[in-house]
Amino acid sequence: KAGALWGGRFAGGPSPELARLSKSTQFDWMLAEYDLQGSRAHARALAAAGYLTDTELTQMVGALEELERAVVAGDFLPADADEDVHSALERGLIDIIGVEVGGKLRAGRSRNDQVATLVRMWLRDHAAILASLVIELIDALAAQAEAHEDAIMPGRTHLQHAQPVLLAHHLLAHCWPLVRDLDRFADWGRRADASPYGSGALAGNTLGLDARLVAADLGFAAVVENSIDGTASRDLVAEFAYITAQIGIDMSRLAEEIILWNTREFGFVTLDDAYSTGSSIMPQKKNPDIAELARGKSGRMIGNLTGLLTTLKGLPLAYNRDLQEDKEPVLDSINTLEVLLPAFSGMVATLTFHTERMAELAPQGFSLATDVAEWLVKRHVSFRDAHEITGSLVKFAETNNLDLHEVGDDDLQALSSHLIPEVRDVLTIRGSVDSRDGVGGTAPVRVAEQRAHLVARVRDL
Ligand code: ARG
Repeated sequence: KAGALWGGRFAGGPSPELARLSKSTQFDWMLAEYDLQGSRAHARALAAAGYLTDTELTQMVGALEELERAVVAGDFLPADADEDVHSALERGLIDIIGVEVGGKLRAGRSRNDQVATLVRMWLRDHAAILASLVIELIDALAAQAEAHEDAIMPGRTHLQHAQPVLLAHHLLAHCWPLVRDLDRFADWGRRADASPYGSGALAGNTLGLDARLVAADLGFAAVVENSIDGTASRDLVAEFAYITAQIGIDMSRLAEEIILWNTREFGFVTLDDAYSTGSSIMPQKKNPDIAELARGKSGRMIGNLTGLLTTLKGLPLAYNRDLQEDKEPVLDSINTLEVLLPAFSGMVATLTFHTERMAELAPQGFSLATDVAEWLVKRHVSFRDAHEITGSLVKFAETNNLDLHEVGDDDLQALSSHLIPEVRDVLTIRGSVDSRDGVGGTAPVRVAEQRAHLVARVRDL
């Protein structure tokens, strides 16, 4: 017998090769509960428009609830002949109440408007789960910042020593992109808050069904304005995949630093045993696998986004079967992040920072040169001259194998009459950090403020 939902005009059933290719139950089964919820809402809309009697509606809703219990319990599963989650569940419904009543449910809807709606519902739930996991990571970073309020580390540009910064400032710098990821989910949620149910296959339906009733029933604020858009667009799925990829990238950048910090050469952190792995041959090894997996998996999530965008590119309106390819990439990104984030947060929460080592390296590489130049500017030397004078000081120190503060009074004077011994007052990492007290700067007062803002921001989300 031909495919259960569309056999009428066909002479026979699909070839086994087609059936195998066409089948999507192995991944779209995650939509089963949303499908049943949608079907209950649709049944109520059918009844409101006079296509189901009260008795039929009660029967239908009862059967859909029974089917949902069976799905949740794992007692009802897709069969080999089911093309997709929608066909499987219609089979299940008809098994329970028979074709007479069960066969009425499909009126006025298509799998095209159904699947577009269900995917939004499914993504909405995972946006909430992912957001709470991202908040846990932000909390772990903010707690480490709070625990190391005074620690100073070498701040880098081009991976070279640049200027000393507070470790807390650096850790909080990893929080803000994640906060924006949370904003992105919230933003996405506003755009995704319209139901495509009622769009039918592409042109709408003739039965006078109240799509607003269905939308409200399913927790959507609105109905899509255009049935073609409702069934054919997947930009919201791609946007969701982008947010997951961006979270992956944000974690990957921190992961890369943790991997570096954990080397003997840096010696900035020690990983907790429970969040690191060993080697099967080298007994001494303790490896940052969580960070490496985070870095690696970000590539996979970028791939998922890229693949989905490539599927969408050039697709004519309205629905095309290509659109079935929207689910697996974003499902993979969701599964990836939902496993990765808890491990990653645990690793961050249990990191031990070696603050003496960081403080020892912070002044190296002439990282206080900018402080000298700005000290000169405060004494009304033009920045152009100050830069030049400080450059000659760095060159002198480098040639003579000295740190800036070790250059003697006479040598300072010889380099420039502006370089009086008081310049050494700014040649401490503490003084350097304290003096960067403009908004958003690394001075301890500003960083404490920043952390308070972050905590309030996340709390108010
Ligand atoms: N399984 C399809 C999807 O996920 C929905 C079914 C639409 N099929 C069709 N022939 N119109 O996109």
